[in-house]
Amino acid sequence: MKKLKIASIPGDGIGKEVVPAATGVLKTIAEIHGGLSFEFEEFPWSCEYYLEHGHMMPEDGMDKLKDFDSIFLGAVGNLQLVPDHISLWGLLIKIRREFEQQINIRPAKVMKGVRSPLVNPKDFDLIVVRENSEGEYSSVGGNMYRGEDEIAIQNAVFSRKATEKAMRYAFELAAKRKKHVTSATKSNGITFSMPFWDSVFKEVAKDYPDIQHDSQHIDALSAFFVTRPERFDVIVASNLFGDILTDLGAAIMGSIGIAPAANINVNGKYPSMFEPVHGSAPDIVGKGTANPIGQIWTAKLMLDHFGEEELGAVLLDVVESVTNDGILTPDIGGSSTTNEVTAEVIKRLKEVDRKGK
Ligand code: NAI
Ligand code: MG
Repeated sequence: MKKLKIASIPGDGIGKEVVPAATGVLKTIAEIHGGLSFEFEEFPWSCEYYLEHGHMMPEDGMDKLKDFDSIFLGAVGNLQLVPDHISLWGLLIKIRREFEQQINIRPAKVMKGVRSPLVNPKDFDLIVVRENSEGEYSSVGGNMYRGEDEIAIQNAVFSRKATEKAMRYAFELAAKRKKHVTSATKSNGITFSMPFWDSVFKEVAKDYPDIQHDSQHIDALSAFFVTRPERFDVIVASNLFGDILTDLGAAIMGSIGIAPAANINVNGKYPSMFEPVHGSAPDIVGKGTANPIGQIWTAKLMLDHFGEEELGAVLLDVVESVTNDGILTPDIGGSSTTNEVTAEVIKRLKEVDRKGK
């Protein structure tokens, strides 16, 4: 029996609605599988917790999390209670940084039954591997002078270690997919870091002779996301480029409510964290209409991470059969509730199981 200990942090807003939904789905998966069990422990860390305790998580919070097999997070943020820089940095970003989750992955694909804003989305199915710890989002730099002489300097930091790590992760991932990696560069405009990025990419590519690869400048690459997304498989990008590309990826799918993400710790020292792309959606909280698919697809990424890729594929197929039959929350044009979509996914998972036996 494979026992997995999951720290669950629903967080704020619709996080409290979609995390229980996806947890129910994971429990069903465990029942079906038989040889797998999930033990969830829930942590109430959130903006409400902050109001009561003065911090987003207790002082020994990271210590409490470190022995779990993974962290399953909903969303963080409630501007009516706590400013974003306190809530996000006190929980989400703290975990990403301190647990050395150096890689962020975000898939995007055409979901059956979900309308893409693209006129001709073909059948795109891609995944962005983003370097999650340095690059353009470094804290190296400073400000000088005031007024018309004012200067701001923000340095980008690219280490061979982190760059190579992201690239190797991309190639390993491509080996399990369509065997193609695209590097997002801008070495025609950025003259130190990006030529370095290109040279590391070339070196790493040599170790994966079975995987095709190419490099695209980020501006052209962004345009291709709109005009020809089907040409991509795995894209590896720096922190900033990856951040922007993945929002575009979620947009061409049709709703941020269905987009999943994972923050991966690759050195094995700490757990990885799985969270959807969306935030706490204060405008729809409590209405029961939050789309649970982002969180459920995030659970699929967690299954993949645990080596349960077949189960992950079954789960995503079932979700797509539900969307394809028009059982949709309002953000993707339907009138179903969070609970209705979730119940349908669970019901169909059980049906697949019966057919499989
Ligand atoms: P948001 O992602 O919460 O919402 C943007 C829009 O998308 C809203 O109209 C919302 O209703 C809709 N939406 C989001 N998820 C949905 C879902 N599952 N189903 C249906 N519709 C959905 O972004 P926003 O409004 O900018 O931020 C709200 C709060 O969330 C802020 O405090 C922000 O800092 C925080 N946030 C947290 C993130 C995280 O925990 N990773 C990521 C983004 C924002
Ligand atoms: Mg972003």
